[in-house]
Amino acid sequence: MAARVDPGDDFRRVLGRFPTGVTIVTAQAADRPVGMAVNSFTSVSLDPPLILFCAARSSTTWPHIRSAGAFTVNVLGEDHGALCRVFAHKGTDRFNGVRYRTGATGAPVLDGVAAHLDCRIDALHTAGDHVIVVGRVEDHHADDRVRPLVFHGGTYAGLQPEPTHRTEGEEH
Ligand SMILES: Cc1cc2nc3c(=O)[nH]c(=O)nc-3n(C[C@H](O)[C@H](O)[C@H](O)COP(=O)(O)O)c2cc1C
Repeated sequence: MAARVDPGDDFRRVLGRFPTGVTIVTAQAADRPVGMAVNSFTSVSLDPPLILFCAARSSTTWPHIRSAGAFTVNVLGEDHGALCRVFAHKGTDRFNGVRYRTGATGAPVLDGVAAHLDCRIDALHTAGDHVIVVGRVEDHHADDRVRPLVFHGGTYAGLQPEPTHRTEGEEH
């Protein structure tokens, strides 16, 4: 019989070996903007245009996003490590000093991000202690000048350009 996988630090450490980008998922709640750091974002479908992220069922921000019915995925740039920490921290005014505009679905689009996708909630799938949130993209934009933030092994990094691999006999 397979050993039980303990949901503790070792499982987290193994999952953390997989490098990801980092996003802040925002929404416009009834009385204020809300947002949370999310690295479970991924693309799903080109036609129709679908993406997903996984929201912890314990999150206090997720119910506001669900009620709004729409959200923006803000893809963070390499200078956004500190901003990401703010949006993962409970009990602070996360939007204090943050510049943003209102996107196509009404959710905040943060200034200076590498890309953003404005989405409406298309489907929800409960999966263990998370909810898989499928969003239908209604608007999107990328700023190719902003290099993305990378999350790996519990720390933030920038994306290094690919090293030049020289093959024998190759002209230089
Ligand atoms: C790099 C990083 C990635 C995260 N990714 C997710 C995620 O994909 N889904 C999620 O529910 N929480 C994720 N979190 C945690 C949430 O940002 C954090 O638990 C949440 O904002 C806590 O506050 P809340 O109760 O207001 O949601 C991540 C945190 C960090 C620092």
